[in-house]
Amino acid sequence: MAEAIELKNITKQYPGHGKHVVKDLNLDISRGEIVMLIGPSGCGKTTTLKMMNRLIEPTSGSIFVNGADVTTTDPTELRRSIGYVIQQVGLFPHLRVGENVSAVLRLLKWPKNRITQRVDEMLDLVGLDPSLYRDRFPKELSGGQKQRVGVARALAADPLILLMDEPFGAVDPITRSHLQAELLRLQREIQKTIVCVTHDIDEAVLLGDKIAVFGTSARIEQYAAPAELLSQPANEFVENFIGGSNSIRVLSLLPVTPDQLRPGRTVDAGSNTGQHGVLDEDAIALDNGRPAGWVFGSRGDREITTTETIPLATRPTYADALDLIMKTGEPGAIFTHADGAYAGILELGQVHAAIATTLEPAPMMDAAS
Ligand SMILES: Nc1ncnc2c1ncn2[C@@H]1O[C@H](COP(=O)(O)OP(=O)(O)OP(=O)(O)O)[C@@H](O)[C@H]1O
Ligand SMILES: [Mg+2]
Repeated sequence: MAEAIELKNITKQYPGHGKHVVKDLNLDISRGEIVMLIGPSGCGKTTTLKMMNRLIEPTSGSIFVNGADVTTTDPTELRRSIGYVIQQVGLFPHLRVGENVSAVLRLLKWPKNRITQRVDEMLDLVGLDPSLYRDRFPKELSGGQKQRVGVARALAADPLILLMDEPFGAVDPITRSHLQAELLRLQREIQKTIVCVTHDIDEAVLLGDKIAVFGTSARIEQYAAPAELLSQPANEFVENFIGGSNSIRVLSLLPVTPDQLRPGRTVDAGSNTGQHGVLDEDAIALDNGRPAGWVFGSRGDREITTTETIPLATRPTYADALDLIMKTGEPGAIFTHADGAYAGILELGQVHAAIATTLEPAPMMDAAS
């Protein structure tokens, strides 16, 4: 299946300005994922986002959306199929909330009763009571409420792709946490492909399935899942970027306790794993109850790898588990009891979930606040 968005050798140069704003950018965004773009001011994040829906035309290169080259699509059509939340919210000040949300639907000439219904549905979705907010003007809303209306508007026509440019940049930290939690909840419901610009690494870690760190001229310094980015920054530039992140610090404060370990799948190392019948999953080989290493059934590989294990007696933290997983590239970190016996594993997904949980704010008390 084609990727949701593919940027191929994209460059952008403004006439009369010598420097490339975007230089030879290649980026694939998979369907249903949240991809966070982060980088210093002026590095080309907004420009990149706007080229995805052709609000800005690239100087050269091609863009594919769901496998189709969009440089040949009618840009207006394209924009209607891609939701867009702009950097400064950008509600129409003279239009009521309901009219803002339905702007695209009216362009699409939806019947009136369907529009009314859809507006209420969208306001509900973003946690605004339609009867209270439908007829207000933007100036009668808080910053956070405006952001929600912006999201409701972008989602109204049910686009497959949602582009968001620092959607939570203009609100206070507490409201921002609530909106981030709302976005994650929403995404579980709607499963869109979301590309979101941020300047906050912790927001990127919390929301992103993947993070693209941009350097000058939208050069990709690293494009990876949050856990990998945090534990294996590709270079000094990325290291500096995540330097200020809470996430690593949080992980090193989280102890791994025996009850959190998963049993994993185990096989007896003494038996010849080659004749073990069908081993189609990865497993941990145990030698007299002690872990000997991994057997990669999924690769059809019957060799037992030698591996490092973490003794529970060393009071390990999630940071230790992440370090080991990243170093070995194995599916999880193996833990042992004091006598060397196998205790269980902590999988990469569990580390990732721990990062997300510790950064996630408490549930909202008042959905419309
Ligand atoms: N119309 C234009 N003409 C000339 N240069 C432009 C134009 N629009 C943007 N630029 C330049 O392109 C570069 C990238 O701008 P862009 O808005 O993409 O940055 P950004 O990464 O989104 O920054 P920020 O984090 O501050 O929003 C900047 O150096 C900017 O000055
Ligand atoms: Mg920008």
